[in-house]
Amino acid sequence: MSVAKKPEDTCVLVTGGAGFIGSHTVVELLENGYHAVIVDDLSNSSAKAVDRVKTIVGEKAAANLTFYEADVNDRAALERVFSENTIDRVIHFAGFKAVGESVGKPIEYYTNNLGNTLTLVDVMREHGCKSIIFSSSSTVYGDPDSLPLTEESPKKPATNPYGWTKWMIEQVLTDLHTADPEWDVVLLRYFNPIGAHESGLIGEDPKGIPNNLVPYVAQVAIGKREFVRVYGDDYPTPDGTGVRDYIHVMDLASGHVAALAWMNGRSGVEIFNLGTGRGTSVLEVIKAFSKACGRELPYKVEPRRAGDIAENYGNCDKAAREMGWHARYDIDDMCRDSWNWQQKNPDGYATA
Ligand code: UD1
Repeated sequence: MSVAKKPEDTCVLVTGGAGFIGSHTVVELLENGYHAVIVDDLSNSSAKAVDRVKTIVGEKAAANLTFYEADVNDRAALERVFSENTIDRVIHFAGFKAVGESVGKPIEYYTNNLGNTLTLVDVMREHGCKSIIFSSSSTVYGDPDSLPLTEESPKKPATNPYGWTKWMIEQVLTDLHTADPEWDVVLLRYFNPIGAHESGLIGEDPKGIPNNLVPYVAQVAIGKREFVRVYGDDYPTPDGTGVRDYIHVMDLASGHVAALAWMNGRSGVEIFNLGTGRGTSVLEVIKAFSKACGRELPYKVEPRRAGDIAENYGNCDKAAREMGWHARYDIDDMCRDSWNWQQKNPDGYATA
């Protein structure tokens, strides 16, 4: 069982802490009094994100943040992090995350995502740290038989290597607890994270052409892309376009802080869905973003994208019941904050 500690006495290692969800979570951690150590190799993120986190939280809280530029797969580097800091808990975000890319690069995805997790938990064990929150995804539910998805909904085969890595890492961490019940493991299954910190200082910075809907819409809004491609309007949904449970990244961030508080003094394996419980269609997203940026964003309907499902949204009552967490932001807030970030950083961190 993990030792119950106050936030100010708790040091949290955040792998991938310079990334999109990681950086927002580090803000929440520091603002709630935790000490944080980021390990990030900056392969898909920027040191500027770390600087901006410090700006957001202010000098005093920023003093509780340490940053190591290192790959979680680099065992020697990780050993050094654990030797130089007393790590109480780990939040594990680091990993490759492009669904389409993973189909063409399965070896890279399995090596990186599974490999870094195995290195991480082995080094944790060596240092007597047995407490981990894993950044999982609603993708583990596959094509659902019924909605909304609860934590009891069956896991189904993933449709791509990225999804399989989430699926398998959940299993690895569960097996770890079976072997040694002292481990405490929380698997957070995210729905579709969008939005940005309200300051517009940190946000999502996709490389190249965005694969995900909202970053693409944001680039249409800023004039980088001509129109939104709507992948299919013949789904069995109210307006025919795909429905997803979008969640503000700051709500996700607060979900991690709630999970830390919840697991304090507990052990076991627990799964929580983190979403809003509400489904929003592609056309509704375009409408909300148009409202945020003050002009009607153009779109064209195209054929369905391979591998997409019609509808996906979660039931997040368990997180509310157990951890006292619930999403506070709606789709208008999410689009407003995505637009604010996009406007202030038209080329992401590269312009800063
Ligand atoms: C995908 C991944 C999910 C991952 C998430 C990250 C799968 C099946 N899905 O979710 O694991 O966690 O990204 O946020 O592995 N759409 C368009 N035009 C676009 C882009 C998307 O119409 O240019 C539509 C899609 O068809 C879908 C919706 O928008 O209906 C959301 O798509 P996207 O943002 O890519 O997320 P998911 O595919 O739901």
